[in-house]
Amino acid sequence: MIKDILKRREKLRVELQPSEHLLVEGSVWLPLNVVSNGNSSSSSQAVGVTKIAKSVIAPLAQQHVSVFMLSTYQTDFILVREKDLAAVINTLEEEFNIYRELTVHPVLIPQNQFCVMSLDPDTLPAIATTLIDVLFYSNGPKEGALPSQDLDFIKFFSFSLIDGYVSLVMDTEAQRQFPADLLFTSSSRELWRMVRIGGQPLGFDECGIVAQISQPLADNDISAYYISTFSFDHALVPEEDIVSVTEMLQQHRKEPAC
Ligand code: ARG
Repeated sequence: MIKDILKRREKLRVELQPSEHLLVEGSVWLPLNVVSNGNSSSSSQAVGVTKIAKSVIAPLAQQHVSVFMLSTYQTDFILVREKDLAAVINTLEEEFNIYRELTVHPVLIPQNQFCVMSLDPDTLPAIATTLIDVLFYSNGPKEGALPSQDLDFIKFFSFSLIDGYVSLVMDTEAQRQFPADLLFTSSSRELWRMVRIGGQPLGFDECGIVAQISQPLADNDISAYYISTFSFDHALVPEEDIVSVTEMLQQHRKEPAC
């Protein structure tokens, strides 16, 4: 098993050579899949990072372990650097109570509403052209227009295919382009709002970014779907909670400025 992973990693390392078109973060990252009660799908009330904020994310941050967080429709992956694996294993075996000072990153809360969706991988070909359309042809600024500085709306589209499971996150505008019958979403929480974390690209070394967002959300019983990307982090929260999330984050920021 371990050998398999190592082999696969070697392969990835060979395939992902940096070029002028591809920026590659130097380290090898290992995905940890958090399984709760022997079940990796979110069966309880709390979903996303909320249910692992206290037990996994905060302890790793306290141990200065940098993570890369990727929620998918089915589960949550926490990527950690290969070199941190020993520390990760150690950390997750224990309970920690000591909290560290964190750098507070600016957040941006765009107005668009987002959907978190999945689809049967067999029907993937049916949405292929729409996917290509949305990815490559509908993002550009309108003819003659300057690139938008308007941060009230963020163009955010995420597609992941992990172990045969498909996850999609898109705003309601993009969603309208897809055939409604193929994509499915949870029946209870249809729409999400986004908190984008970071004014400058966040890099890969700092720890505690996921923790400083997920901890207060967990304390307030708010579920979140968290996606780290190359530059920024994105926490999606249920639409009905965005007002309290905004207040909560503002409050945090008022506390003794660093
Ligand atoms: N390393 C950060 C943490 O441990 C999260 C990832 C931020 N960086 C990024 N490129 N999205 O909280």
